[in-house]
Amino acid sequence: PPATLVDSYSRTITYLRVSVTDRCDFRCLYCMAEAMQFLPRAEVLTFDELDRLCAAFIRLGVRRLRLTGGEPLVRRDILLLVDALGRHLKSGAIDELTLTTNGSQLARHAEGLAAAGVRRVNVSLDSLDPDRFAQITRRGRLAAVLEGIEAAKAAGLAVKLNVVALRGLNEDELVPMVAWAHARGHDITFIETMPLGDIDGDRTDHYLPLTRVRQMLDGHFTLAESPHRTGGPARYVTAVETGGRIGFITPLTHNFCESCNRVRLTCTGSLYLCLGQEDRFDFRDLLRAGTDDRGLEAAIRAAIARKPRGHDFVIDRDHRAPAVARHMSMTGG
Ligand code: GTP
Ligand code: 5AD
Ligand code: SF4
Repeated sequence: PPATLVDSYSRTITYLRVSVTDRCDFRCLYCMAEAMQFLPRAEVLTFDELDRLCAAFIRLGVRRLRLTGGEPLVRRDILLLVDALGRHLKSGAIDELTLTTNGSQLARHAEGLAAAGVRRVNVSLDSLDPDRFAQITRRGRLAAVLEGIEAAKAAGLAVKLNVVALRGLNEDELVPMVAWAHARGHDITFIETMPLGDIDGDRTDHYLPLTRVRQMLDGHFTLAESPHRTGGPARYVTAVETGGRIGFITPLTHNFCESCNRVRLTCTGSLYLCLGQEDRFDFRDLLRAGTDDRGLEAAIRAAIARKPRGHDFVIDRDHRAPAVARHMSMTGG
């Protein structure tokens, strides 16, 4: 029988998210501080090291890989890694290889991603207004991202849009963004901001519970519960008027840890067992000490056995400090 990774709460881990770089060309207000310090390159795993770790997870039962960052497409020659990982698709060892991106470099990489076997990408897009987009991302240019989305579509990739719902920043755009996405054939998912890492402002100011967003959408669309699941935490509804799907990722208002199927590998070889906890296991020294495949597999099993029950995220006036010190850009969401 194929190997499986099961944690101590009987959850089967089939999904590995790999942050290939902590760097990003944007500095989104809710994600990073303006003055971010990035890791020295010597600490970052090579493609061979990342590939070797991914292969070990796949032998143990991981069926889906998602590359994240930072921004995965700013890592030099990233397509070499995507191509290498694509061999697991061709052999049937995994079902899906996907990418979560800010879209800034997607126009030049879309064809290559599709050729490597990627079928869908998730693109972050928090505003359709160029000035506001620049304000939220601090560095981003909306036009480049829109070109990236077009290029992805032209290359045959399905595009899902990720929108972090931000009170006072994009709440008035959420309804029009659904219409915009659906008119172009994209699913759209709303996300609650999570308390990860210090940002320059106070997350409480922009936290918008998706229960509110759902009410706003209810006023404009007829929403029907959808059975669609991607294996991720989003719950989907269909807007009857457009026929398109809307997802809700609600770590704050509706915890989904019970069905968690994932762990996260950082670009330095740390395996984080939960997005909202500090527990981690470091693989870099093991790799660099020449540990063989059996040794790596034993270490992976030992780490999975320590996966915690879930996060304890809270955002309210009494909880202004982040739940965990690291930023989302270390673990790619
Ligand atoms: P698909 O469902 O495969 O399309 O992907 P996804 O929605 O799981 O991945 P994506 O990279 O698009 O992530 C969207 C948002 O969901 C990000 O903000 C992630 O941080 C968040 N997210 C993904 N997985 C988890 C999780 O296990 N726990 C929490 N709290 N948030 C998650
Ligand atoms: N809370 C919620 N989502 C976040 N993202 C980045 N930082 C946070 C945060 N603190 C989102 C990005 C992207 C996804 C990978 O994570 O916008 O869509
Ligand atoms: Fe970069 Fe994504 Fe963080 Fe924005 S949310 S700064 S695009 S890693």
